[in-house]
Amino acid sequence: SSNCVILGIETSCDDTGCAIVDSQCNILGESLNSQQLIHLQNGGIIPPIAENLHRKNIENVVNNALASSKVHFADIDAVATTVTPGLPLSLKIGVKYGKYLCKKYNKPFIPIHHMEAHALTARMCKKDVNFPFLVLLISGGHCLIAVCKDVNKFLLLGESIDDSPGEAFDKVARRLKMKNIPEFSTISGGQAIELAASRADNPIQFKFSIPLLQYKDCNFSFSGLKTQAKIHIQRQEKQHNLPPDGIIPDLYNLCAGFQLVITRHLCHRVQRAMEFAEMKGLLPRDNKTLVISGGVACNNFIAKGLQIICKELEYKMVRPPPKLCTDNGVMIAWNGVERWRTKAGVTKDLDSVDWQKS
Ligand code: KG4
Ligand code: ZN
Repeated sequence: SSNCVILGIETSCDDTGCAIVDSQCNILGESLNSQQLIHLQNGGIIPPIAENLHRKNIENVVNNALASSKVHFADIDAVATTVTPGLPLSLKIGVKYGKYLCKKYNKPFIPIHHMEAHALTARMCKKDVNFPFLVLLISGGHCLIAVCKDVNKFLLLGESIDDSPGEAFDKVARRLKMKNIPEFSTISGGQAIELAASRADNPIQFKFSIPLLQYKDCNFSFSGLKTQAKIHIQRQEKQHNLPPDGIIPDLYNLCAGFQLVITRHLCHRVQRAMEFAEMKGLLPRDNKTLVISGGVACNNFIAKGLQIICKELEYKMVRPPPKLCTDNGVMIAWNGVERWRTKAGVTKDLDSVDWQKS
Protein backbone atom coordinates (compact mmCIF):
# COMPACT_ATOMS: atom_id res chain seq x y z
CA SER A 1 0.00 0.00 0.00
CA SER A 2 1.06 3.61 -0.32
CA ASN A 3 0.54 4.19 3.42
CA CYS A 4 3.96 4.52 4.97
CA VAL A 5 6.19 5.97 7.69
CA ILE A 6 9.56 7.28 6.50
CA LEU A 7 12.63 8.45 8.42
CA GLY A 8 14.55 11.17 6.57
CA ILE A 9 18.14 12.35 7.00
CA GLU A 10 19.62 15.61 5.68
CA THR A 11 23.33 16.54 5.87
CA SER A 12 24.04 18.12 2.47
CA CYS A 13 25.34 21.44 3.76
CA ASP A 14 25.49 22.85 7.30
CA ASP A 15 22.33 21.45 8.90
CA THR A 16 22.13 17.99 10.44
CA GLY A 17 18.43 17.13 10.20
CA CYS A 18 16.24 14.11 10.82
CA ALA A 19 12.47 13.61 10.84
CA ILE A 20 9.83 10.91 10.75
CA VAL A 21 6.88 11.68 8.47
CA ASP A 22 3.90 9.56 7.41
CA SER A 23 1.87 9.47 4.20
CA GLN A 24 -0.96 11.44 5.89
CA CYS A 25 1.43 14.43 6.08
CA ASN A 26 1.99 14.08 9.84
CA ILE A 27 5.39 15.05 11.20
CA LEU A 28 5.73 12.35 13.85
CA GLY A 29 9.13 13.44 15.13
CA GLU A 30 11.91 15.83 14.14
CA SER A 31 15.29 17.16 15.17
CA LEU A 32 17.69 19.68 13.68
CA ASN A 33 21.19 20.81 14.55
CA SER A 34 22.24 24.00 12.76
CA GLN A 35 25.94 24.78 12.38
CA GLN A 36 25.14 28.37 11.34
CA LEU A 37 26.73 30.12 14.34
CA ILE A 38 30.05 28.33 13.92
CA HIS A 39 30.22 29.03 10.18
CA LEU A 40 29.25 32.68 10.76
CA GLN A 41 32.26 33.01 13.09
CA ASN A 42 34.49 31.49 10.40
CA GLY A 43 33.17 33.87 7.72
CA GLY A 44 31.78 30.98 5.65
CA ILE A 45 31.49 27.19 5.57
CA ILE A 46 34.79 25.30 5.80
CA PRO A 47 33.86 21.80 4.51
CA PRO A 48 35.99 19.68 6.92
CA ILE A 49 34.54 21.63 9.87
CA ALA A 50 30.99 20.98 8.60
CA GLU A 51 31.90 17.30 8.15
CA ASN A 52 33.18 16.96 11.73
CA LEU A 53 30.07 18.62 13.15
CA HIS A 54 27.79 16.30 11.15
CA ARG A 55 29.78 13.30 12.38
CA LYS A 56 29.61 14.52 15.98
CA ASN A 57 25.85 15.23 15.88
CA ILE A 58 24.20 12.76 13.49
CA GLU A 59 23.55 10.03 16.06
CA ASN A 60 21.99 12.45 18.56
CA VAL A 61 19.88 14.16 15.92
CA VAL A 62 18.46 10.83 14.70
CA ASN A 63 17.88 9.58 18.25
CA ASN A 64 16.18 12.84 19.23
CA ALA A 65 13.88 12.67 16.21
CA LEU A 66 12.96 9.08 17.12
CA ALA A 67 12.50 9.93 20.82
CA SER A 68 10.25 12.91 20.01
CA SER A 69 7.99 10.55 18.04
CA LYS A 70 6.24 7.52 19.48
CA VAL A 71 7.49 5.45 16.59
CA HIS A 72 9.55 2.28 16.98
CA PHE A 73 12.06 1.58 14.27
CA ALA A 74 10.16 -1.58 13.41
CA ASP A 75 7.23 0.60 12.23
CA ILE A 76 9.38 2.65 9.87
CA ASP A 77 9.09 1.52 6.24
CA ALA A 78 12.29 3.05 4.84
CA VAL A 79 15.14 5.47 5.45
CA ALA A 80 15.40 8.39 3.01
CA THR A 81 18.69 10.31 2.82
CA THR A 82 20.00 13.21 0.73
CA VAL A 83 22.62 11.87 -1.70
CA THR A 84 23.01 14.97 -3.95
CA PRO A 85 23.64 17.86 -4.52
CA GLY A 86 25.77 19.25 -1.71
CA LEU A 87 29.18 19.30 -0.09
CA PRO A 88 30.72 15.82 -0.63
CA LEU A 89 32.17 15.64 2.89
CA SER A 90 28.80 16.57 4.39
CA LEU A 91 26.72 14.26 2.16
CA LYS A 92 28.97 11.30 2.99
CA ILE A 93 28.17 11.47 6.73
CA GLY A 94 24.40 11.32 6.19
CA VAL A 95 24.58 8.59 3.54
CA LYS A 96 26.88 6.48 5.72
CA TYR A 97 24.53 6.82 8.71
CA GLY A 98 21.42 6.18 6.62
CA LYS A 99 22.93 2.99 5.20
CA TYR A 100 24.01 1.92 8.71
CA LEU A 101 20.40 2.26 9.94
CA CYS A 102 19.08 0.31 6.92
CA LYS A 103 21.51 -2.50 7.59
CA LYS A 104 20.83 -2.58 11.33
CA TYR A 105 17.02 -2.67 10.99
CA ASN A 106 16.76 -4.34 7.59
CA LYS A 107 14.99 -1.42 5.86
CA PRO A 108 15.07 -0.17 2.27
CA PHE A 109 17.05 2.99 1.44
CA ILE A 110 15.58 5.87 -0.57
CA PRO A 111 18.20 8.17 -2.16
CA ILE A 112 16.96 11.77 -2.18
CA HIS A 113 17.82 14.72 -4.45
CA HIS A 114 17.96 17.78 -2.17
CA MET A 115 16.32 20.13 -4.70
CA GLU A 116 13.48 17.68 -5.41
CA ALA A 117 12.85 17.64 -1.65
CA HIS A 118 12.71 21.46 -1.44
CA ALA A 119 10.21 21.46 -4.32
CA LEU A 120 7.90 18.73 -3.01
CA THR A 121 7.64 19.99 0.60
CA ALA A 122 4.84 22.34 -0.50
CA ARG A 123 2.69 19.26 -1.23
CA MET A 124 2.98 18.20 2.41
CA CYS A 125 2.05 21.68 3.67
CA LYS A 126 -0.90 22.23 1.31
CA LYS A 127 -3.14 19.45 0.04
CA ASP A 128 -3.99 21.18 -3.26
CA VAL A 129 -0.53 21.50 -4.84
CA ASN A 130 -0.98 19.15 -7.79
CA PHE A 131 1.40 18.30 -10.63
CA PRO A 132 2.39 20.09 -12.76
CA PHE A 133 3.36 23.29 -10.90
CA LEU A 134 6.01 25.98 -11.29
CA VAL A 135 8.72 26.05 -8.60
CA LEU A 136 11.31 28.70 -7.72
CA LEU A 137 14.13 27.44 -5.49
CA ILE A 138 16.29 30.19 -4.02
CA SER A 139 18.86 29.39 -1.35
CA GLY A 140 22.50 29.74 -0.41
CA GLY A 141 23.48 26.93 -2.73
CA HIS A 142 20.99 27.18 -5.57
CA CYS A 143 18.81 29.28 -7.78
CA LEU A 144 16.51 27.67 -10.31
CA ILE A 145 13.05 27.80 -11.78
CA ALA A 146 11.43 24.62 -13.09
CA VAL A 147 8.16 22.95 -13.92
CA CYS A 148 7.65 20.11 -11.48
CA LYS A 149 5.73 17.56 -13.59
CA ASP A 150 5.86 14.63 -11.20
CA VAL A 151 7.75 13.37 -8.14
CA ASN A 152 10.96 12.82 -10.09
CA LYS A 153 10.24 14.73 -13.30
CA PHE A 154 11.42 18.31 -13.59
CA LEU A 155 11.68 20.59 -16.60
CA LEU A 156 14.37 23.17 -15.86
CA LEU A 157 13.41 26.57 -17.28
CA GLY A 158 16.28 28.64 -15.88
CA GLU A 159 19.05 28.80 -13.31
CA SER A 160 21.75 31.16 -12.09
CA ILE A 161 24.68 31.59 -14.45
CA ASP A 162 26.91 32.51 -11.47
CA ASP A 163 26.15 32.95 -7.74
CA SER A 164 22.99 32.09 -5.82
CA PRO A 165 20.94 34.89 -4.22
CA GLY A 166 21.73 33.55 -0.72
CA GLU A 167 25.44 33.73 -1.49
CA ALA A 168 25.01 37.33 -2.68
CA PHE A 169 23.18 38.27 0.54
CA ASP A 170 25.80 36.54 2.68
CA LYS A 171 28.76 38.14 0.90
CA VAL A 172 27.31 41.65 0.92
CA ALA A 173 26.42 41.32 4.63
CA ARG A 174 30.02 40.27 5.28
CA ARG A 175 31.37 43.17 3.20
CA LEU A 176 29.14 45.50 5.25
CA LYS A 177 30.73 44.01 8.41
CA MET A 178 27.28 43.41 9.83
CA LYS A 179 28.58 40.66 12.10
CA ASN A 180 30.29 43.42 14.13
CA ILE A 181 26.84 44.73 15.09
CA PRO A 182 25.49 42.49 17.90
CA GLU A 183 21.87 42.27 16.72
CA PHE A 184 23.03 41.11 13.25
CA SER A 185 25.88 38.90 14.44
CA THR A 186 23.93 35.70 15.10
CA ILE A 187 21.68 35.61 12.02
CA SER A 188 22.40 34.74 8.37
CA GLY A 189 23.40 37.47 5.92
CA GLY A 190 19.99 37.28 4.25
CA GLN A 191 18.13 37.70 7.54
CA ALA A 192 20.46 40.56 8.56
CA ILE A 193 19.87 42.43 5.29
CA GLU A 194 16.09 41.92 5.48
CA LEU A 195 16.01 43.28 9.05
CA ALA A 196 18.27 46.25 8.25
CA ALA A 197 16.29 47.02 5.07
CA SER A 198 13.05 47.24 7.07
CA ARG A 199 14.50 50.33 8.82
CA ALA A 200 15.48 52.22 5.66
CA ASP A 201 14.19 55.76 5.16
CA ASN A 202 15.25 55.95 1.51
CA PRO A 203 15.43 52.57 -0.29
CA ILE A 204 16.35 54.26 -3.60
CA GLN A 205 19.36 56.20 -2.26
CA PHE A 206 21.66 53.66 -3.91
CA LYS A 207 21.00 52.89 -7.58
CA PHE A 208 21.32 49.32 -8.82
CA SER A 209 20.68 48.06 -12.35
CA ILE A 210 18.69 44.86 -12.88
CA PRO A 211 20.80 42.10 -14.48
CA LEU A 212 20.02 40.24 -17.73
CA LEU A 213 17.17 42.61 -18.65
CA GLN A 214 17.93 42.25 -22.37
CA TYR A 215 17.95 38.42 -22.25
CA LYS A 216 14.71 36.69 -23.13
CA ASP A 217 15.53 33.45 -21.28
CA CYS A 218 14.71 32.57 -17.63
CA ASN A 219 18.24 32.54 -16.21
CA PHE A 220 19.44 34.50 -13.19
CA SER A 221 22.65 36.33 -12.29
CA PHE A 222 23.74 37.72 -8.93
CA SER A 223 27.49 38.25 -9.09
CA GLY A 224 27.13 41.61 -10.89
CA LEU A 225 24.76 42.84 -8.17
CA LYS A 226 27.31 41.86 -5.55
CA THR A 227 29.90 43.95 -7.43
CA GLN A 228 27.50 46.91 -7.68
CA ALA A 229 26.97 46.73 -3.91
CA LYS A 230 30.72 46.57 -3.26
CA ILE A 231 31.31 49.69 -5.38
CA HIS A 232 28.64 51.61 -3.42
CA ILE A 233 30.18 50.48 -0.13
CA GLN A 234 33.72 51.40 -1.18
CA ARG A 235 32.57 54.85 -2.26
CA GLN A 236 30.85 55.40 1.10
CA GLU A 237 33.88 54.22 3.04
CA LYS A 238 36.10 56.71 1.20
CA GLN A 239 33.61 59.54 1.42
CA HIS A 240 33.22 59.14 5.19
CA ASN A 241 36.88 58.27 5.72
CA LEU A 242 35.96 55.12 7.68
CA PRO A 243 38.46 52.96 9.61
CA PRO A 244 38.90 49.33 8.37
CA ASP A 245 36.15 47.94 10.60
CA GLY A 246 33.84 50.96 10.21
CA ILE A 247 30.16 50.60 9.31
CA ILE A 248 28.77 52.91 6.62
CA PRO A 249 26.21 55.43 7.98
CA ASP A 250 23.64 54.57 5.29
CA LEU A 251 23.71 50.83 6.03
CA TYR A 252 19.90 50.48 6.16
CA ASN A 253 19.35 52.22 2.83
CA LEU A 254 22.05 50.16 1.15
CA CYS A 255 20.49 46.92 2.41
CA ALA A 256 17.07 48.08 1.20
CA GLY A 257 18.41 48.97 -2.25
CA PHE A 258 20.16 45.63 -2.55
CA GLN A 259 17.12 43.65 -1.40
CA LEU A 260 14.95 45.65 -3.82
CA VAL A 261 17.08 44.91 -6.88
CA ILE A 262 17.29 41.21 -5.99
CA THR A 263 13.50 41.17 -5.66
CA ARG A 264 13.03 42.97 -8.97
CA HIS A 265 15.39 40.56 -10.73
CA LEU A 266 13.64 37.49 -9.27
CA CYS A 267 10.22 38.90 -10.21
CA HIS A 268 11.36 39.72 -13.73
CA ARG A 269 12.72 36.22 -14.35
CA VAL A 270 9.73 34.48 -12.76
CA GLN A 271 7.41 36.51 -14.99
CA ARG A 272 9.41 35.39 -18.03
CA ALA A 273 9.13 31.75 -16.90
CA MET A 274 5.36 32.19 -16.49
CA GLU A 275 5.06 33.63 -19.99
CA PHE A 276 7.13 30.74 -21.36
CA ALA A 277 5.00 28.17 -19.53
CA GLU A 278 1.87 29.85 -20.92
CA MET A 279 3.19 29.85 -24.48
CA LYS A 280 4.16 26.17 -24.30
CA GLY A 281 1.03 25.12 -22.42
CA LEU A 282 3.06 23.59 -19.58
CA LEU A 283 0.56 24.33 -16.80
CA PRO A 284 -3.21 23.86 -16.43
CA ARG A 285 -4.81 27.20 -17.40
CA ASP A 286 -7.37 27.15 -14.60
CA ASN A 287 -5.07 26.00 -11.79
CA LYS A 288 -1.63 27.56 -11.94
CA THR A 289 0.62 27.33 -8.88
CA LEU A 290 4.00 28.86 -8.06
CA VAL A 291 5.83 27.15 -5.20
CA ILE A 292 8.71 29.09 -3.66
CA SER A 293 11.20 27.50 -1.30
CA GLY A 294 14.82 27.53 -0.12
CA GLY A 295 16.34 29.79 2.55
CA VAL A 296 15.93 33.01 0.54
CA ALA A 297 12.19 32.29 0.23
CA CYS A 298 12.01 33.10 3.98
CA ASN A 299 12.40 36.76 2.96
CA ASN A 300 9.03 38.48 3.34
CA PHE A 301 9.89 41.40 1.07
CA ILE A 302 10.83 39.04 -1.78
CA ALA A 303 7.70 36.95 -1.15
CA LYS A 304 5.52 40.08 -1.36
CA GLY A 305 7.07 41.00 -4.70
CA LEU A 306 6.49 37.52 -6.08
CA GLN A 307 2.92 37.54 -4.74
CA ILE A 308 2.17 40.63 -6.85
CA ILE A 309 3.39 38.84 -10.02
CA CYS A 310 1.31 35.78 -9.08
CA LYS A 311 -1.83 37.83 -8.61
CA GLU A 312 -1.37 39.56 -11.93
CA LEU A 313 -0.79 36.34 -13.88
CA GLU A 314 -3.44 34.38 -11.95
CA TYR A 315 -1.14 32.02 -10.06
CA LYS A 316 -1.68 30.74 -6.55
CA MET A 317 1.57 31.18 -4.59
CA VAL A 318 2.54 28.53 -2.04
CA ARG A 319 5.39 29.11 0.41
CA PRO A 320 6.15 26.57 3.15
CA PRO A 321 6.70 28.01 6.67
CA PRO A 322 10.29 29.33 7.18
CA LYS A 323 11.52 26.26 9.06
CA LEU A 324 10.54 24.10 6.07
CA CYS A 325 12.02 26.54 3.50
CA THR A 326 15.52 26.20 4.96
CA ASP A 327 17.26 22.82 5.07
CA ASN A 328 15.63 20.25 7.36
CA GLY A 329 14.95 16.55 7.82
CA VAL A 330 11.19 16.82 7.28
CA MET A 331 11.50 17.62 3.58
CA ILE A 332 13.73 14.58 3.06
CA ALA A 333 11.32 12.27 4.90
CA TRP A 334 8.38 13.72 2.92
CA ASN A 335 10.26 13.18 -0.35
CA GLY A 336 10.74 9.59 0.85
CA VAL A 337 6.94 9.30 1.26
CA GLU A 338 6.40 10.61 -2.29
CA ARG A 339 9.02 8.20 -3.65
CA TRP A 340 7.50 5.29 -1.68
CA ARG A 341 4.21 5.87 -3.53
CA THR A 342 5.91 5.70 -6.91
CA LYS A 343 8.58 3.19 -5.79
CA ALA A 344 11.14 5.29 -7.72
CA GLY A 345 14.63 4.67 -6.37
CA VAL A 346 13.59 2.61 -3.32
CA THR A 347 16.23 -0.10 -2.88
CA LYS A 348 17.41 -2.86 -0.56
CA ASP A 349 20.69 -3.19 -2.44
CA LEU A 350 22.78 -1.05 -0.07
CA ASP A 351 26.00 -1.67 -2.00
CA SER A 352 24.50 0.22 -4.94
CA VAL A 353 23.87 3.28 -2.74
CA ASP A 354 26.30 6.20 -2.44
CA TRP A 355 26.41 9.98 -2.35
CA GLN A 356 26.60 11.59 -5.80
CA LYS A 357 28.66 14.39 -7.31
CA SER A 358 26.61 17.45 -8.19
O1 KG4 B 1 18.11 26.64 2.11
P1 KG4 B 1 19.21 27.09 3.04
O2 KG4 B 1 19.01 26.91 4.51
O3 KG4 B 1 20.54 26.36 2.69
C1 KG4 B 1 20.98 26.16 1.41
O4 KG4 B 1 21.69 27.05 0.91
O5 KG4 B 1 20.62 25.09 0.83
O6 KG4 B 1 19.49 28.64 2.68
C2 KG4 B 1 20.44 29.42 3.36
C3 KG4 B 1 20.52 30.77 2.68
C4 KG4 B 1 21.60 31.69 3.23
O7 KG4 B 1 22.38 32.18 2.16
C5 KG4 B 1 20.82 32.82 3.90
O8 KG4 B 1 21.48 34.07 3.84
C6 KG4 B 1 19.54 32.83 3.11
O9 KG4 B 1 19.29 31.48 2.81
N1 KG4 B 1 18.44 33.39 3.89
C7 KG4 B 1 17.80 34.53 3.55
C8 KG4 B 1 16.85 34.78 4.57
N2 KG4 B 1 16.94 33.76 5.48
C9 KG4 B 1 17.91 32.93 5.04
N3 KG4 B 1 17.97 35.36 2.51
C10 KG4 B 1 17.17 36.44 2.45
N4 KG4 B 1 16.26 36.75 3.39
C11 KG4 B 1 16.05 35.96 4.46
N5 KG4 B 1 15.14 36.28 5.39
ZN1 ZN C 1 18.67 23.62 0.64
